Order: sequence, then structure tokens, then C-alpha cells
Amino acid sequence: MAYTIKLAKSAGFCFGVKRAVDTAVRTATEQGGCYTYGPLIHNNSEIERLGTLGVKVTEDYKTFDKEKGTLIIRSHGVEKAVTDYLTEKDIPYIDATCPFVAKIHSIVAKAEGTVIIAGDRTHPEVMGIVGHCNEGIKVIVIADEQELQKELEALENYCENALIMVAQTTYNSSKWQSCKRIAKKYYTNIKIFDTICSATSERQSEAESLAKEARLMVVVGGRHSSNTTKLAQICGKHCPVLFIEQGSDIDKAEVTRLAGDGGIIGITAGASTPAYIIKEVHKIMSEILNNEDFDFMAEVDKTFKKVYIGNRVKAVVVAVNNNEAVVDLGTKHSGYIVAEELTATPNVAPSDVVSVGDEIEAIVISINDAEGVVHLSKKKVDSVLALEKFKTAVESGETLEGVVTAAVKGGVIVIADGARVFIPASQTGVPRDGKLEELVKTTVSFKVIEVTEARGRIVGSIRMAKKEQNDAAKAKFWETIEEGQKFTGEVKSIESYGVFVDLGGVDGMVHTSELTWNRIRHPKEVVSIGDKLDVYVKSFDPEKKRVSLGCKKEEDNPWTKFTAQYAVDDVADVKIVSITPFGAFAQIVPGVDGLIHISQVSNERVNNVAQVLSVGDEVKAKIIEINEEANRVSLSIRALMEAAPAEAAEEAPEAEEETAEDAE
Ligand code: F3S
Repeated sequence: MAYTIKLAKSAGFCFGVKRAVDTAVRTATEQGGCYTYGPLIHNNSEIERLGTLGVKVTEDYKTFDKEKGTLIIRSHGVEKAVTDYLTEKDIPYIDATCPFVAKIHSIVAKAEGTVIIAGDRTHPEVMGIVGHCNEGIKVIVIADEQELQKELEALENYCENALIMVAQTTYNSSKWQSCKRIAKKYYTNIKIFDTICSATSERQSEAESLAKEARLMVVVGGRHSSNTTKLAQICGKHCPVLFIEQGSDIDKAEVTRLAGDGGIIGITAGASTPAYIIKEVHKIMSEILNNEDFDFMAEVDKTFKKVYIGNRVKAVVVAVNNNEAVVDLGTKHSGYIVAEELTATPNVAPSDVVSVGDEIEAIVISINDAEGVVHLSKKKVDSVLALEKFKTAVESGETLEGVVTAAVKGGVIVIADGARVFIPASQTGVPRDGKLEELVKTTVSFKVIEVTEARGRIVGSIRMAKKEQNDAAKAKFWETIEEGQKFTGEVKSIESYGVFVDLGGVDGMVHTSELTWNRIRHPKEVVSIGDKLDVYVKSFDPEKKRVSLGCKKEEDNPWTKFTAQYAVDDVADVKIVSITPFGAFAQIVPGVDGLIHISQVSNERVNNVAQVLSVGDEVKAKIIEINEEANRVSLSIRALMEAAPAEAAEEAPEAEEETAEDAE
């Protein structure tokens, strides 16, 4: 009778259990012992083995004496109240809750309506999930489709938008599919989160495939382990099952009876079954069935992907902390990517780069088989991918974006797509006497001008990208410019005849006379380089690339203000601003001067105006003419003086009488 013993893929410790066991063993080794809150896994002999390594079990966290050491929270997780209590009482603990379970905690913690949990209500994982639901919300645990249906009927007219459903990570996947169908039938808007751990579903489907061709399936694992029990149920649909906890449970007579006269004997194991127990079971089965032709370790190894230093592998992020990301490689190793290897950008928190559940690519940089640990680098993959992208960018001339992270000798470093790009100082766009440091921490656009693959060197140019941007902006400017168009531009240079204003890549000129309504000798009197000016296009010539700009606003026109305030024959307080041989100019309002002709300066003959008036004098003058067309005003002081003798004539007799009386 010939037998072939086959080991199901994914038999034994899953990622979460291995992580919890490793954490406990490491803590016990470092601290001379530690405690787990409840048995770490559903396997008595493994619990005994861990006990010999200093990992002991406590069943009551409330009576736990913190002097005893660190308490490890197992992969099933616990109610929030437990960790809150430990924190409050200052009891040292390490939370080894499997990241997939922790994800369910965070989903239910956000729920505000009703939470339906598909699972075993007596299982610690489910109790932990219930303990993460907010107080006051309705929490329903259903074991199967029938219970779900009953509960959904009882929820008639319930606000379906507030309904969510999750599953215990080890829930039977085909039952879960039925539950989802039923739930959707009742409440189309129910939010369903697929929280069954893929390790479980993969283990179940691989065990089922093997069971379909097997004569007998040996299922190894704790009798209290829900995932092992489910494995036994699934396999039992296709062939006889021997459900054992360890090698010593194997009954030779039963095996011989069930194995029949040859064929495939399958072995699978639950997530909490250690490799040495699986090995022991295999050995005993081989002896019973006289099948020596089996290399156990080789078979175990077959269930894992191989990793080598330099391997580019796909991995799923299962946990992120302040210093690193933990990844599942689908191998027997635990994968770690330290913060510095996650991204080339310095001082970035791992949680800003990856999240739990992300599938990423990374390169293996070291393997410690003894500890089952692999260190990886995501940054190296990013750099390889970036190199390919940058090589294409050299050809295509594509503009890329990155953040300047440092000013170095001769240029700056830009991090783009996880790769380092060197920008020589001459290509930064910073003037020779400028400071490259001012670019640090800014986001810049650049062109890739050279990629040296062998050295992984990428050289870029910010200047070229800027030039392209400017050329494009100029082309658009000339396409869209029109008279009257308004701009806010920056004063770039000042000449005696006007100022040049940057309109966004194209300069326009404001003539001095267009700068202000007031009379000025030089534009510097009213503007400085760097000032922002509101201007409008007076005219433009696309051929000569010239734009003539205006800056004065009609509402500020002093002539308008003057005519609104004064009319002919009004008397104004004026200030002498200049003296000429033919008269004096006087400011009536800012921007409007009037001429006091030499003949109007006095009622006496004046040969030299300067003998009567000086610049700065403030006098009263009558407006004798307003020439609207020429914007000219004529003033007269004499007009006011001529009125005086007439008034004096009326008052003269009294004055003379007073004088006479005074004389007497
Ligand atoms: Fe975690 Fe899945 Fe194992 S949920 S504990 S990895 S079965």
C-alpha cells in the first residue's frame, strides 16, 4: 500500500500568532520573564514550552501585580476597557493584538448606529471587538445566517445608513458570503467590512483542496481553537478527519482504519500550531504508514516563498509605528522597514508614508534566519522606479516636481518620487549672489537633464523648467492680451521716462505722465522697485513685444475733483508753487495749478513777480477763468484788491470823522 503524505500550504502559525509569540519570547528573554493576559495561543504544549522560556499566563489583569513584569496582550486583542485600565494603573504592557484584529477595533469604534459582528460571541477576539464599540450603540453578535436573518427582521424600519457589519477574522468564508447576501437583501445601504483574515481563508481553501484528493486529513491544533475547528469541519465535507492536538493523540489503529489501502494523506494545522508539533505529527504518520520518503522541512519550506538579499518583493503593511513599518511578505519571516528605509525624504513619520493594508514593493536588505526577521527597503525600490521614470523624462522633456531637502556644495538636493536629484547651482535659477538655502523645504518644478544609471545619479534643472513655464506664460499673454486689460504687476526697473512693470513674464512700461495725476520730476518720487502696481493696458504691439500701460484712475483725476468743488468767481486759498517772468503758478487742489498773471498779482503795477510773491506763500485768489478744454485755470489776487477800495469808500467818512475826533 503506497501512501503520499502531503502538507497543506499555510499550515501552522499565521503572521499574527507568530508576531505575538515572538514578542512574548523576546520580552521574556530581555526582561527575565513576562506574562500574557490569557494563553497566548490555543495550544497547550506550546503554552508549556513558552512557560519554560519564562512566558507565564495570568487570567486576571485586575489582580496583576505590576512588579511581576510586562503583560503581553495576545493576538486576539482585548476590550478597550482592559488597556484603559492597564494605562491608568501604570501596568507595563505590550499590545501584540494582530493588526488585522486592531483594524476591526478601529472600524467599530467609529460606528454610531448598530454594529453586527459575525462570529463566536464567547471567543476572546469577538469579546474584544464588542469591547471597542462605543457605549450606547446597539451591538449584535450573530453566529450564522439564521441568527442574522432573525436579527435583521427585528431591526425593521431601522435607519440603515447607521448599520455596519464586520466578521471575526477567522469566520467561515462561505458563511460570510451568505451573511453578506442576506444583509444586503434587508438593508441595501448596510456598510459591510470584509474583515476575515486572508491567512484564514487561504488556509481554509488550501486545506479544502487537499481534502478533496485525500483519503484522510489530519487536522492539527487546539480543540478550543476556532480556526482549527473550522478547518476540521471544512475538510470533513470531503474525507474522514483526524482532529488532534499533538502527535501523542494519534491512534495507530484509527489511522490504519481510516487510511484504507493507500493514497494521499493530508496534514493541515491551525494558526496556533507550532511547526515542531506539525513535524512530530508528520513523523508519526510516516512511521505508521511506512512512508519515509518525505523531507518535512523541505515541505514546510515549500509553503513559504523564498527571500534573498536583493530580492524585490511584494509585501502588505500590517502595522506602522513611530520607527518602522511591519510587513507581511507571505514568507515565514517577519518583515521590518525602518523609517529611514521607507522614504528618501528625511524626517518623515512612517505613518505619513504607508498605512496598514497597503501593498508595497520593497527590496530585501538583510535576513536573519535564526530570528526569522527580514529587513527591507522601500526607498530602494522607489529609487529604481524613479530612475526608470527619470530616464523617460530625459527623453520626453517632462517637467517633474519635488521638494528641496538640502543645499549642498555646488547645488541643491531635490527628493522626487523617492529619489535624490542633484540640481547644480547654475541650474537652480538662484542668482550667483543669492542663497541656495532659501530653496530648502520648497516644492520646485524641474527638468531631468541627465541620468547615470550605474551610479544612480540624476541631475536636474529648475532653471530650464522655469524658462519653459515663462515661455508658455509669454505665449499665452500675447494670445490673450487686450486693451483695457487690468494687471497687478511688480516694478522691475525705473527710468527717468517711466517704469517697467512685470505682468507675469512680460514687461510693460508706464510712462511717467501716466504714473500719477500729480506733477512729478522723476518716477522715483512715487514708486520703488518691487512695488506692486495696479495697471491697465493702454496699447500694445505684439510684433515689437511692447506694452504701454496706464496707472492713473479717473476717479483720482484732480481736474474732476477741482471742477466739482470750484467755479469761476469763487475765491480759493492757493499756494504759490513757482514764479515765472509772466506770473506765478499756484496750487488750488493737489494736481491743479492756476496761473496768476503778472497783471493780476496786484492792483499796482508789478515789474517783477518775485518782489511780491515767493514760492510757498499761501494767499487768497479769485478764479477768473476755467478753460475745460485745455485744463487751465486763471487766478487773480488783484480782483480781490480792486473790491477793497470800493468798500473802503463806503466806510471812509466814519474813519475820517474818527480821525478828526482823535486829532481834537
Ligand atoms: Fe491575525 Fe489572521 Fe492570524 S487575523 S492572528 S494573521 S489568523
